[in-house]
Amino acid sequence: MLTAIKGLLGHEALYVALQKGLGADRLRYRCLDELGLTDGDTVIDVGCGPAYYFGRLPRVRYYGFDTSEKYIAHARKRWGSDQAEFRCEVFGEQHLAEIPPVNAILLLGLLHHLSDADSRHLLQVSARALVPGGRVIAVDPTLVPGQHPVSRWMSKNDRGEYVREPEAFVALGRESFDDVDGEVVDDATRIPTSHWMMRMRTPVFARDGS
Ligand SMILES: C[S@@+](CC[C@H](N)C(=O)[O-])C[C@H]1O[C@@H](n2cnc3c(N)ncnc32)[C@H](O)[C@@H]1O
Repeated sequence: MLTAIKGLLGHEALYVALQKGLGADRLRYRCLDELGLTDGDTVIDVGCGPAYYFGRLPRVRYYGFDTSEKYIAHARKRWGSDQAEFRCEVFGEQHLAEIPPVNAILLLGLLHHLSDADSRHLLQVSARALVPGGRVIAVDPTLVPGQHPVSRWMSKNDRGEYVREPEAFVALGRESFDDVDGEVVDDATRIPTSHWMMRMRTPVFARDGS
């Protein structure tokens, strides 16, 4: 039953409806507000999915990456333009030669789908993809002591195989950024959930990887 429900979430319209029904959209909007983006900024969104929050962004130059063809097709049809491109690719080092340095990177609901090794690699590439003063925001379900039993169940039964405690997310972030902080958000959704929203700035690596 649970597996069937998780499978249905691969359907883009159902995914968006569920996110909005649960209030998970409010969590995304909060992340976007944290970034303080303005017109003319550039943004990379890794694991963009259908990018249903795209309309909340100012007039930015946007690059969305996702490994799901269905999600990318949906996002491209809804939001694709001269200013917004959607790619069914894994964001990696090869894109640094092609995409100019960006003001912000969104990792909304992604890191809990990635192993430590894959998260580490993505965060390293992200650190190298930023302009000076650029920032990364990540948000993921988390496990924290004392969380509501429903929230704990939601985190443990998420589609992502790598739901972590905040300390584990922070440890990964600190490998690539000097400035990492965050907070548990447990008041955004209509049912009890706990998410770790993490801000990362001040890359440890230069663009060339040194
Ligand atoms: C929970 S969804 C989040 C989608 C969107 N960011 C949101 O907040 O609604 C996670 C997304 O990550 C994508 N994904 C998983 N592994 C990925 C990878 N290595 N690179 C890019 N996208 C990936 C999945 O296809 C899925 O669309």
